[in-house]
Amino acid sequence: MASISSAFSLSLALFLGFSSTVLHLTEAQQLVQGLSWSFYDSSCPRLESIVRKQLQEVFKDDIGQAAGLLRLHFHDCFVQGCDASVLLAGSASGPGEQEAPPNLTLRARAFRIIDDLRRRVHRRCGRVVSCADIAAIAARDAVFLSGGPDYDVPLGRKDGLNFATRNATLANLPSPTSNTSALLTSLAAKNFDPTDIVSLSGGHTIGLSHCTSFTNRLYPTQDPTMGKTFANNLKANCPTANSTNTTVLDIRSPNVFDNRYYVNLMNRQGLFTSDQDLYTDRRTRSIVTSFAINQTLFFEKFAIAMIKMSQLSVLTGRQGEIRANCSVRNSDNLSLSSVVGEEEGSWSAF
Ligand code: HEM
Ligand SMILES: *[C@@H]1O[C@H](CO)[C@@H](O)[C@H](O)[C@H]1NC(C)=O
Ligand SMILES: *[C@@H]1O[C@H](CO)[C@@H](O)[C@H](O)[C@H]1NC(C)=O
Ligand SMILES: *[C@@H]1O[C@H](CO)[C@@H](O)[C@H](O)[C@H]1NC(C)=O
Ligand SMILES: *[C@@H]1O[C@H](CO)[C@@H](O)[C@H](O)[C@H]1NC(C)=O
Ligand SMILES: *[C@@H]1O[C@H](CO)[C@@H](O)[C@H](O)[C@H]1NC(C)=O
Ligand SMILES: *[C@@H]1O[C@H](CO)[C@@H](O)[C@H](O)[C@H]1NC(C)=O
Ligand SMILES: *[C@@H]1O[C@H](CO)[C@@H](O)[C@H](O)[C@H]1NC(C)=O
Ligand SMILES: *[C@@H]1O[C@H](CO)[C@@H](O)[C@H](O)[C@H]1NC(C)=O
Repeated sequence: MASISSAFSLSLALFLGFSSTVLHLTEAQQLVQGLSWSFYDSSCPRLESIVRKQLQEVFKDDIGQAAGLLRLHFHDCFVQGCDASVLLAGSASGPGEQEAPPNLTLRARAFRIIDDLRRRVHRRCGRVVSCADIAAIAARDAVFLSGGPDYDVPLGRKDGLNFATRNATLANLPSPTSNTSALLTSLAAKNFDPTDIVSLSGGHTIGLSHCTSFTNRLYPTQDPTMGKTFANNLKANCPTANSTNTTVLDIRSPNVFDNRYYVNLMNRQGLFTSDQDLYTDRRTRSIVTSFAINQTLFFEKFAIAMIKMSQLSVLTGRQGEIRANCSVRNSDNLSLSSVVGEEEGSWSAF
């Protein structure tokens, strides 16, 4: 099979637990210098199977974690590049990305899942694989194991030495209240075109939102672009503007990575302004429609946009480091700094 032919073959692959269809976009995609499609082929050949096998176990218990992992990689990449900076705990040098408001709705378990994967990988291969690469592979597997496309991820990222400031975090993550104009402008700065933006927003085909992320569309007045029944159901879900409840992002198929998100938009059932306005705005409307009627097209464009996102401002080669613990930079790890001199190759912080 040369490419994904139908949703059916994908969900079959999902239930049988193997993949028969991988999008090989290696020729279509430009790689930034320092990343490669075969980076760990000799240093850690089992890397991707270790991650996938473990995530299959995690998702068997709680498929919601797939959404948490996908969003974590997005937040990592948009703020200061895909350098695992989002994973760093705040330290003496100040509060990090994690303390900025957008962090507060990242799932706590996603952080633990990434470091658990790192531990398994390092046990097998040594400290040669970065947390940033593990986060990128985990996001891909979250997509695939929820029913979405499988695709190759370029590898070779290093982990950053610093987290971003709270201000940088706020400035780089778009708000759910953004309209399409605002999204097009802020994402153009990261070199994303309208097709990329509509594709990436399709990440909202899985996962949850807290009421406070969208109740501005319900109270005090109802957003006229929101369907009436949909709005009434959301009001029952979130009786006040600051209710602490959550709701699903995709009412049609909340846990399956598919193109129903776009069908929702066509039916005025997008949850955020940033979602619904993609269908209101004439510059993106036809892209929404094309994905709603052709899931294969969405999967292809989504994979392309994800590969692009996964290369934002990456550290490679002698930049950065490979963390021994995803939430702590090595220089803050006293037990590690005494043995650092003995490590070769992967250590490049100085
Ligand atoms: C286009 C700009 C985007 C905006 C404004 C946005 C905004 C949001 C907001 C407000 C939430 C809910 C947070 C909460 O209240 O709990 C959310 C959840 C989520 N977002 Fe986005 N997002 C954007 C792009 C993306 C991208 C590019 C992806 C991945 C490709 C993504 C994947 C997710 C996922 C999977 C969730 C659910 C997380 C969970 O269930 O834990 N989003 N997003
Ligand atoms: C950031 O969010 C994660 C997940 O909720 C949490 O584990 C972490 O402690 C947060 N960081 C801070 C400094 O609050
Ligand atoms: C962060 O942003 C706030 C509000 O925009 C501003 O008042 C503050 O000075 C900024 N802090 C830094 C360190 O740039
Ligand atoms: C989009 O949002 C921006 C800034 O929030 C606002 O200035 C602009 O008028 C909005 N555009 C439309 C078409 O609503
Ligand atoms: C939370 O939402 C559910 C529906 O998803 C609803 O049944 C419940 O009453 C809501 N809880 C509160 C405290 O509003
Ligand atoms: C929640 O919002 C209501 C109005 O919608 C307000 O009366 C109340 O004080 C708010 N509570 C908090 C904790 O902000
Ligand atoms: C759907 O999109 C795919 C991928 O671009 C394309 O090959 C296929 O012809 C499209 N199907 C239809 C029915 O337009
Ligand atoms: C990683 O560092 C965090 C924060 O210091 C710590 O709580 C955790 O136990 C460490 N993990 C491992 C596997 O040592
Ligand atoms: C320090 O490094 C060791 C591995 O060399 C790691 O197991 C441990 O989790 C790290 N500790 C912290 C606090 O990061």
